[in-house]
Amino acid sequence: MAMRFDGRVAIVTGAGGGLGREHALALAARGAKVVINDLGGARDGTGGSSAAAEAVVEEIKAAGGEAFANGASVTDAEAVQDMVDQAIATWGRVDILVNNAGVLRDKTFAKMTLDDFRFVMDVHLMGAVNCTKAVWDGMRERNYGRIVMTTSSSGLFGNFGQTNYGAAKMALVGFMQTLSIEGAKNDIRVNCLAPTAHTRMTEDLGAALPLEALGPELVSPGLLYLVSEDAPTRCILAAGAGGFERAYVTLTQGIRVVGPDAPEQIAAQFEAISDRAGEVVPESGMAQGVIELGKAQKAHS
Ligand code: NAI
Repeated sequence: MAMRFDGRVAIVTGAGGGLGREHALALAARGAKVVINDLGGARDGTGGSSAAAEAVVEEIKAAGGEAFANGASVTDAEAVQDMVDQAIATWGRVDILVNNAGVLRDKTFAKMTLDDFRFVMDVHLMGAVNCTKAVWDGMRERNYGRIVMTTSSSGLFGNFGQTNYGAAKMALVGFMQTLSIEGAKNDIRVNCLAPTAHTRMTEDLGAALPLEALGPELVSPGLLYLVSEDAPTRCILAAGAGGFERAYVTLTQGIRVVGPDAPEQIAAQFEAISDRAGEVVPESGMAQGVIELGKAQKAHS
């Protein structure tokens, strides 16, 4: 059966261009009413204009869909709350939040100022937190919500020159892990999308990647699944060039050593600690402690 979003209201942040624009067009084409949020600034977050968001709204309306533009910066919690209030006043609810807005200020850590670090954390992490906070109570009241955080391979696996961006993107994974647990009883499903696409953000990577194969529209099908009725929760979906993979945070079986020579034992057995045979994905942070206590109990029995 076709995946439809009729009657659903979505907010897509940073939807004036790149991935956000494709996500918004794809949601609208399948029946969702969409708030097109975008500050309209440069890649490093400076400046601002509503033109890009308005153009996406016009595109959606021309195709018979419903949308309105909003120019709030996701870093401005009050303006974000106004955006959510406007969506509720217009369409009665917000069912789907796609936290996609983002900026880059790449530099090696040696050259990076704390201001550049804080700014990137603020847009990616606090931007997603502000938007999520503004929709959270309504989603809980209506017992329905689908939220996606846009993470990145830079956060999951690291990338030279992106300590600020990588830290912010991995922080979103941590945010998602706990939020999905807290949202479960109200059918609020929270996931992360780790895209790879040719957009303004990645235009400098020309030499390294065959850009023509990396259209952002190839990522949006993954986003649609993560915000659909039958969405999973607590999932990190990687997507690019038509490829879709899942990333996990895992725990190896490890060992148990106690005693005065424990540091030496750890050094001697680091290969066994690192052995990925039998590794697990703990269902919550508590599970790590439970596994470790289990080892201790076994040693004493
Ligand atoms: P993009 O630069 O085309 O889109 C980002 C959009 O966010 C822009 O339209 C920008 O105006 C908007 N924005 C920036 N700051 C904002 C703020 N404070 N409030 C509201 N809107 C704001 O770049 P792209 O590639 O489409 O990025 C979308 C998301 O995907 C970002 O979160 C990015 O970090 C992430 N991402 C992209 C990858 C790629 O390969 N393109 C790889 C991994 C993650």
